[in-house]
Amino acid sequence: MAAKLAIHGGKRTIPDGLIQPWPQVTQSDKDAIAEVIASERITEQQRIQSEGLVKEWAEYMGVQYCIPVNSGTAALHLCVAGVGIEPGDEVIIPAFTFWATAAAVLHHNAIPVFVDIDPVTYCIDPNEIEAKITERTRAVLPVHIHGMPADMDPILAIAKKHNLKAIEDVAQAHGARYKGKLCGAFGDAAGYSTQASKTLSSGCQGGLFTTDDEETYKRAALLQYFGEIVVPGREREEQEYNAYGLGWMYRGDMFSQAFIRSQLKRLDANNALRIENCNYLTKHLSELDGIETPFTPDGCKPVYYNYVVGFNPDALGLDISARTLRKKVQEALRAEGVPTGQWQRLPVPSQEIFQNRIGYGTGCPWRCNNSTVEYKTEDYPRAVEFIDSHCYVFDINPPNDLELMSYYVEAFHKVMDQLDAVLDAPVVS
Ligand SMILES: Cc1ncc(COP(=O)(O)O)c(C=O)c1O
Repeated sequence: MAAKLAIHGGKRTIPDGLIQPWPQVTQSDKDAIAEVIASERITEQQRIQSEGLVKEWAEYMGVQYCIPVNSGTAALHLCVAGVGIEPGDEVIIPAFTFWATAAAVLHHNAIPVFVDIDPVTYCIDPNEIEAKITERTRAVLPVHIHGMPADMDPILAIAKKHNLKAIEDVAQAHGARYKGKLCGAFGDAAGYSTQASKTLSSGCQGGLFTTDDEETYKRAALLQYFGEIVVPGREREEQEYNAYGLGWMYRGDMFSQAFIRSQLKRLDANNALRIENCNYLTKHLSELDGIETPFTPDGCKPVYYNYVVGFNPDALGLDISARTLRKKVQEALRAEGVPTGQWQRLPVPSQEIFQNRIGYGTGCPWRCNNSTVEYKTEDYPRAVEFIDSHCYVFDINPPNDLELMSYYVEAFHKVMDQLDAVLDAPVVS
């Protein structure tokens, strides 16, 4: 007889205390922070940690310039400003992402224009980009979402053909590769988040900007530091205190930088363990009717910031929506102790700010720039469908390993084998 489902009072599948949090904090991470605080002259650490991170991340990425900042959003704003976007310029971005991708464009008084996602990778669909290009388009900004590389070859070909800048949002994809090359090393500039949950984690907040172009770097560096040129290490009396333009205060802090530098030493090893976990899930969950597992196109090496699971009622001969199936199965899985959940609930263009076209004031940046760009949810059916029919399985990060993954698989089997009972249960949330 099948084991009683946890939603019906049965024993939960995942043993208590087995799931380990991310990021994994080792003794070397603690030592790295302790060294900062133990420093005789703590203010010098700001320069030491920042310069160390600049050197190490630029080396890892194989790029010329890096600027550590206080968030991924700030890093993306530096990209937008750095490549020379002007107020009212249009920047093409995917309809499914964290809205910070679009906020970085708005921060510079530019206008986001959304493109629907590819149904397989969930990244921007290159086939739909050209239809959105207008006289005002200046850049395309793909996002390597969930750690899956966007299809960079056609994206870069379109950018070249239309004389657009290419910016990469690598917030979720440190170490992911497209045709052998690291995501973030393709475009004119790239922004990375090192916020706690990310594949390169600061344990708190942070971001990184990279580029190979000197002009882009110089513009970004000004923007990052009040619009001033501040020479690290130089005494206060010898600094210029002269603003060359409008800038923000985007400096990163030394503790998170020390932590990132320590984590960076294990980035590839951590990615390899996460990939192993996710490949195991894919191998076993793909055996289940009605469950869809991630597809990796040839030449892509994703790093699985999130593990995405799709629900297909047609494959089960069920006359219910994918959304209903997802919610019912998720509820049962959660009761079994599997941490599943959703992230974005709306495509970005469906969110209030775009529906109302008011970023700040009475309608800027749209009204201030005479922009006629509009945002209709029906223009992004694949983003809507993705949100309805998919959820994430969390805690696939190391040090969690195949032991936990095998419990996840067991729980999926238990739930899907008793689907009638699962569908009968009322959905709580
Ligand atoms: C795709 C994407 N872009 C940008 C960001 C913004 O990064 P941060 O939260 O560090 O500002 C995030 C992170 O949450 C993200 O997931």
